Amino acid sequence: MPITVDGRSASGTAPAPAATLVIFGAGGDLTRRLLVPSLYNLAGSGLLDPGFAVIGVDHSMSSTERWRRDLGAAMQSFTRDPAAEFHAERIDARAWRWVEQRLDYLQGDFESPALYEGLERRLKGSVLFYLATGERFFAGIVERLAAAGLLQEQEGAFRRVVIEKPFGHDLASSRALNRQLLAAGRDGQFFRIDHFLGKDTVQSILALRFANRLYESVWSRRHIDHVQITAAETVGVEARGRFYEGTGALRDMVPNHLFQLFCMTAMEPPATFDAASVRKEKENLLKALRPVQPEKAVRGQYGAGMGKPAYRQEKGVAATSRTETFAALELEIDNPRWAGVPFFLRTGKRLAARHTEITVCFKLPEAKLFRGAAGQALQPDRLRLLLDPVRGVRTDFAVKRPGPGMRPGTVATGFDYDDFFHEPANVGYETLIYDALVGDAALFQSAGGIEAGWAAVEPLLQAWSDGEPEIYPAGSAGPAGADRLIRQTGRNWLELAA
Ligand code: BG6
Repeated sequence: MPITVDGRSASGTAPAPAATLVIFGAGGDLTRRLLVPSLYNLAGSGLLDPGFAVIGVDHSMSSTERWRRDLGAAMQSFTRDPAAEFHAERIDARAWRWVEQRLDYLQGDFESPALYEGLERRLKGSVLFYLATGERFFAGIVERLAAAGLLQEQEGAFRRVVIEKPFGHDLASSRALNRQLLAAGRDGQFFRIDHFLGKDTVQSILALRFANRLYESVWSRRHIDHVQITAAETVGVEARGRFYEGTGALRDMVPNHLFQLFCMTAMEPPATFDAASVRKEKENLLKALRPVQPEKAVRGQYGAGMGKPAYRQEKGVAATSRTETFAALELEIDNPRWAGVPFFLRTGKRLAARHTEITVCFKLPEAKLFRGAAGQALQPDRLRLLLDPVRGVRTDFAVKRPGPGMRPGTVATGFDYDDFFHEPANVGYETLIYDALVGDAALFQSAGGIEAGWAAVEPLLQAWSDGEPEIYPAGSAGPAGADRLIRQTGRNWLELAA
């Protein structure tokens, strides 16, 4: 991303309108690791208006000066940390200065009316409230913002709220949260974020499907045998044991991130890319899902290994915990495009590789021209969308092996984003913050979509409140039960590697 910082974007995209971003949870991890680096990238690309400002709100005693200093130091530390989400060799002083001088800290208790009175005195014009807090604060903050009149939109000035996940922990609680939001403002004011939709590789699924003649014409039950969606991580629960205990892999990843990947892959073409059309098609797809029954799903929990403790020995985790750190499920869709085509989803922590991929596995050709040994050597074609950390597309298909006889052999072609596009990878929140500032909700979740997602996993939430997860060795591909789940349909998981 070329640094311009002159009020014009290098890409020709117009800067977002002037607004104040109020971050609840200013002292938290999300703000430091992802939100502030995103603002720096947006500023560097000329996508923020000179009238842009940030107020960081949190309960700890701090000051504007100290907050700016801490964030500046964090930005510098990321340049030395290969594991950081934000990658840069150096921090551009001009772009950082542009952001830094717009940062103000406001100390306050999210539950105290005094905080909202303070905000009311400071805020004028358009405001984007960003709830980077624990979920227990969401409803209360929104209610207090409304009570202080802070969600009232005046002519030409918006008031919007970005809500992080988790959006509820089941169908009933997500409905209740939606009701609380709608008692405080209009639905269009609430931006329910799913950070997977901020990844360029995920947004690109729609381009791959709808900007090419090649793929969409074969994108159905007629040609596709099944689809695998994998989000594997090598990390454990790290410092989040307490949070994770009450959440588990299913709630943490499936009805949100994995279902968004599923939607991008399987939704019908939207009439346009506007929010209403895109969200409607996703919602329709999620409503066509059969609620997943326990026999179509498997859960696991990581044991010790790779020099690391087992999940049950992690800080904040009960020694007899039954929380799953791995979930695999088979989705069945009742619509004309996908009836009979299973989508297998799996996600887990402490697995063999960090790897996020969607694999579209095609059927073999209908006409069996290759017979005998040649027919047996024939492998189905695969289209592999590599989302993270390797970012690219691979196709596995058959050619004739050199030499006598018509013998097929499988080969692969590949494209990597880094070879074609030289913009530094963004941290994933840039597009989402920009879109919320310009009011484009296409990459945010609708209330109906979230509820349909929870409804689809509801039988599992109930069934898994009881019984034990299967322990899997750290560094493996997950529990043996996951292999049985897919093998009983005559298929196999792909290896966890690009
Ligand atoms: C978060 C989950 O929403 O997504 C984490 O709470 C998970 O448990 C993370 O590690 C994965 O996101 P990413 O972008 O690192 O793949």
